[in-house]
Amino acid sequence: MKISIIGTGYVGLGVGVCLADLGNKVTCLDIDENKIKKLKLAQPTIHEERLPQLLKKNLSRDGLFFTTNYNEAVKDAEVIFLAVGTPQKKDGQAELKYLKQALIAIAKRLEKYTVIVNKSTVPVGTGKMSRELIAKYYKGKFSIVSNPEFQREGTAIDDFLRPDRIVLGFEEENSPAVVIMKKLYAKIKAPSLLTNLESAEMIKYAANAFLATKISFINEIANICDSNEADIKMVARGMGMDTRIGEKFLVAGLGYGGSCFPKDVSALYKIAGANGYWFQLLEAVININKKQSQRVIMKVKQLLGRDLKDNQIAIFGLAFKAGTDDVRESPAIDVIKQLLKLGAKVIAFDPEAQFNAKKILGDRITYARTMNDALRNSEALIIATEWPQFARVSPQRVKYLMKLPNIIDGRNLLDPARFKQAGFNYLGIGR
Ligand code: UDX
Repeated sequence: MKISIIGTGYVGLGVGVCLADLGNKVTCLDIDENKIKKLKLAQPTIHEERLPQLLKKNLSRDGLFFTTNYNEAVKDAEVIFLAVGTPQKKDGQAELKYLKQALIAIAKRLEKYTVIVNKSTVPVGTGKMSRELIAKYYKGKFSIVSNPEFQREGTAIDDFLRPDRIVLGFEEENSPAVVIMKKLYAKIKAPSLLTNLESAEMIKYAANAFLATKISFINEIANICDSNEADIKMVARGMGMDTRIGEKFLVAGLGYGGSCFPKDVSALYKIAGANGYWFQLLEAVININKKQSQRVIMKVKQLLGRDLKDNQIAIFGLAFKAGTDDVRESPAIDVIKQLLKLGAKVIAFDPEAQFNAKKILGDRITYARTMNDALRNSEALIIATEWPQFARVSPQRVKYLMKLPNIIDGRNLLDPARFKQAGFNYLGIGR
């Protein structure tokens, strides 16, 4: 099939290379010329497992094209996916201006029946709005589909090719888009849920909000475990063994970050408010998440026993989670900002995210070339991202390099007994 994707961010690029790899002819469009230049040369613009290989393979077999030109993207496409950003506005609502710009640019060039699929996370009613907007510029037939994406960063390609489910929302049960979308996903073996536009749009928000709730819940339990002998890892395991609860998304830590959860949870909270409904549970989820990084600061103070002014603190991890170079809404960045406010000197190491972190933090912190460089002469170490290499550090080596043996393990990565035995003051989250 001939497919176009508008937007080559984490979602658009992941979807584009996967659909190309399934044998389709895919054109990816972005208005950022630099990005497109790189992608045309098979240079990945984000860190994502298997992306370099799939880019190279599908570019060379002429299954994947990159362009900044809407004429090229719209001309022959049977299906056009919208994967533009819907960032959070100051008031917490989703910003739809990029989506609207893309819809108008497409509408002005449509010449035949085309299926317009929305993959961006958007408030309920955006599908209907999209129909009205396109209809102002194009008088022919077209269909709007909502096909939310559940890919996680870092595992986006695997998540697309082996999803738990495919959600498809249509305007009408007998829309020609149903047959087209079923054909498009025929090679992916996963149960699909066919529903109306609005339900599909809501499923995405509700799923993200529920997962965020699980995380805030386990973080609250961890905070109680902090003041007794219970170990949150054991508690989460015991809870997760109940199949009604499930073991996933029960990892306590610094709180959730990234490009989706914080933005989508507040957008859903705002949507509820706009409908005259106070979503109390989500309000608590948001507040708990904000407070979680402050607890880390409290723990550093507890170990260093002073105000942190001029203390050198090593940070392991800047990305919002392991496996990505993304620092958007990263709890690590939040912790660093708080430390800087208190006058601490921060030296950070991350295997992938330093370049992106520098765009936010600039020269206010030192970026270490290695883990050892970050540790040297530091008075406390904070583990902020769960990169597996951080779990492999030797207590003896760390102790030799650090000025003071203090560890705040914000991801519960290390074995507390081993580090305590080696003479460390160790504080995890809920253990
Ligand atoms: C998320 C959703 O999982 C995905 O379905 C959606 O399409 C986009 O948003 P992503 O942002 O890539 O994906 O990351 P995810 O792996 O879900 O983690 C989100 C945040 O929650 C991270 O900061 C992570 O560290 C944190 N998290 C996750 C926890 O603190 N504990 C957990 O148990 C799981």
